[in-house]
Amino acid sequence: MILSGRKFAKTVRKDLAEEISQIGGRPPGLAVIIVGDNPASQVYVSMKKKACEKTGLISRTVHLEESVSEDELLREIENLNQDSSIDGILCQLPLPEHISDETIASSILPSKDVDGFHPVNVGKLWRGEEGLFPCTPTGIIALLKYSEIQIDGVNAVIVGRSNIVGKPMAALLLREHATVTIAHSHTPDLPGLCRQADILIAAVGKPHFINSEFVKPGSTLIDVGITRTSEGLRGDADFEQVKDICGAITPVPGGVGPLTIAFLLSNTVKAWNRNR
Ligand code: GUN
Repeated sequence: MILSGRKFAKTVRKDLAEEISQIGGRPPGLAVIIVGDNPASQVYVSMKKKACEKTGLISRTVHLEESVSEDELLREIENLNQDSSIDGILCQLPLPEHISDETIASSILPSKDVDGFHPVNVGKLWRGEEGLFPCTPTGIIALLKYSEIQIDGVNAVIVGRSNIVGKPMAALLLREHATVTIAHSHTPDLPGLCRQADILIAAVGKPHFINSEFVKPGSTLIDVGITRTSEGLRGDADFEQVKDICGAITPVPGGVGPLTIAFLLSNTVKAWNRNR
């Protein structure tokens, strides 16, 4: 089974559009801050803006020069924290070297933190409380549920321990009662460990790293990696090699990518419902 994130993301966005038009009044507002001219970031930010417009959210892009000081960026964020027309604030990563990701994440009001990177939201995630949680892992859980793939009681292995995907993914799978292992570059016998996974989440950023040696027959493989190569976009999994071993797999592109944006909108609508 091919798990089409693109198709699922469309239904999520349609439901959000309906919710927004039914509730009416001031529409949800998302502010996206981009620092510098990283071409990939520019593409992502413009995709986020387009998705907002199509779904009935107001989006505001704040574009700052690469040389902007951390203090100035913090002042921009404070303005958005105070702005009652803005429900969600996201600062596109990566940031320039002279700006600290941690300082920025902690400066966004937790109630507007649609990336789920603020320590308060990270704490709520691990404690099993309500909050705003990172978009990609949130979307993956929703896709698994929508596809009726069992999470409760299964073995889940995540390859990659980033704050954006690996760690929050582990917390969310744990909340759904999976037995969770986070593997990484120091893990011995990685293929053997991955072969024990009923759900394998690949979030390494190395094209075609996951081959047939890593995959248990009938398991679900979620490919979060997306790398631009000279031959086009490549996932972390060697799709052709593993697709007939897996019971279900997300393609690249059209798998996890579209979910991230759909669940950014979903987080913004959630914040809007709470903040209104
Ligand atoms: N850059 C790559 N992924 C992300 C993400 O999920 N959020 C933000 N803010 N920046 C990113």
